[in-house]
Amino acid sequence: MAADGVTVWADGKVLPADDAMITVMDHGFTVGDGVFETCKVVGGEVFALGRHLGRLARSAAVLRLVCPAEQALRTAVVDLMDAAGPVDLGRLRLTLTGGPGPLGSGRDEADPTLILAVSPSSPWPERIAVVTVPWTRNECSAVAGAKTTSYAENVVALAEAHDRGAHEALLTNTRGLVCEGTGSNVFVERDGVLVTPPLRSGCLAGITRELFLEWAAADGLPVTEDDVTPRELAQAPEVLLTSSTRDVQHVAELDGAPVPGTALGNAAVELFARRSRERTDP
Ligand SMILES: Cc1ncc(COP(=O)(O)O)c(C=O)c1O
Repeated sequence: MAADGVTVWADGKVLPADDAMITVMDHGFTVGDGVFETCKVVGGEVFALGRHLGRLARSAAVLRLVCPAEQALRTAVVDLMDAAGPVDLGRLRLTLTGGPGPLGSGRDEADPTLILAVSPSSPWPERIAVVTVPWTRNECSAVAGAKTTSYAENVVALAEAHDRGAHEALLTNTRGLVCEGTGSNVFVERDGVLVTPPLRSGCLAGITRELFLEWAAADGLPVTEDDVTPRELAQAPEVLLTSSTRDVQHVAELDGAPVPGTALGNAAVELFARRSRERTDP
């Protein structure tokens, strides 16, 4: 069942997106009190679901939200995907909020709200333009590293990128070090090694970042986690973004300057494409 291509699971039922309702008092709506996951759907299968459900539980724990059991979440995913019919390429989103609550930041003892939604999507371009923006990620935030629904900072940064003709914005942290994009992790090539900011930078522990680090290490591709300065980013011969919907993607232009790209970058893209085809739930 699908409305405008989006099929929703809410309260144990699958229904058209237009008919799925939450109360206006939901704490996810009033104060952004919630966590979420976005997974890639390929050939009707949800990629890396186990890792995404693990991160949902970890994000929920950071927010002190009760997360439904993994098996209940898996059953909801199966019910939703069965009802959605064949989705060749798409995204599945799981959103868990504090449930109905007061208008302030305090919570009631309410059951959390769980909503799943799946929609078809179009492939990303292979090479994209990226800009840096002046706003910072707070690596010392109470919710650093959790994938919360409080994404207004990302909305503003991405709107700025779009205004400047780019597809993604990169942010630094309070120490002035490169952190991540609004919806992506970043790798820069330094002396023949692909370097990504460590989790202490305040970036999200991206599932794609994690898989790429594991697969690259296993295949002997030089990758490491280390602090990255904005100067290194600006001068890097290769810059890559990783995310569940992008996989590993080349940055062709950074702040209006071309990024040449390298054989190592091409090998990284190829490696991820190959390894991700081997197993649906690595
Ligand atoms: C802020 C942020 N960083 C990084 C990522 C990449 O994470 P993943 O590879 O799990 O999609 C995302 C994904 O949306 C994100 O929102």
